[in-house]
Amino acid sequence: MNFTLKIWRQKDAKSQGAFESYKVENISADTSFLEMLDILNNDLVHQGKEPVAFDHDCREGICGMCSLHIDGRAHGPGDGATTCQIYMRKFKDGATITIEPWRSAAFPVIKDLVVNRGAYDQILQAGGFVSVRTNSVPDGNAIPIAKADADESMDAAACVGCGACAATCKNGSAMLFVAARVSSLAKLPQGRVEGARRAKAMVAKMDELGFGNCTNTGACQAECPKQISIAHIARLNREFLAAKLED
Ligand code: FES
Repeated sequence: MNFTLKIWRQKDAKSQGAFESYKVENISADTSFLEMLDILNNDLVHQGKEPVAFDHDCREGICGMCSLHIDGRAHGPGDGATTCQIYMRKFKDGATITIEPWRSAAFPVIKDLVVNRGAYDQILQAGGFVSVRTNSVPDGNAIPIAKADADESMDAAACVGCGACAATCKNGSAMLFVAARVSSLAKLPQGRVEGARRAKAMVAKMDELGFGNCTNTGACQAECPKQISIAHIARLNREFLAAKLED
């Protein structure tokens, strides 16, 4: 398969970026999207040109590092998949593919397709610790948890913190990310101890970092590679309100 790639190139955070076009040829349909970029970079290096900077780590849909806007969609043309889980068979032979970094004020571009998602780390840090006894293996049945609660908690915990929710939201809201983190602990008795403090601290940090407000468009849920439900945002709102009323 052959493709024309329109890729956002930006020297550094201070430079103004622009799209540049590249051709990649004889790409197997079973090549992953990131492998296709590897092939392009190999060609660029052999031509003595600067390779395209892009983020990646696990390449298995686990770490959330591969964060690209592909043809206007976060993580490209696949539902429930990260960029590294997209294969070139998803595109038409001969297609022109537009590749951009996340576009969000809270995620400034560092270089080319790499953005700084440190804002999510700061929100996580604001969430703080969980009071659990460590060191020894706990008895699996010591704290009974209803299956439905455990399932909901695990669904929320699937968040990989990739940033697609905020980058997709027209308001630049990080509510789905914060909701997933708060909700995954709020559904478990172990997470209740610091529940009120966590909800308030994470929401306050999100606001401080300049993320926008949620207006329930549902775009975050539609583009989340882990298909996390906006029902968790409703839970975050309940947790936050209850914590404020306690105050
Ligand atoms: S590289 Fe880890 S999720 Fe894509």
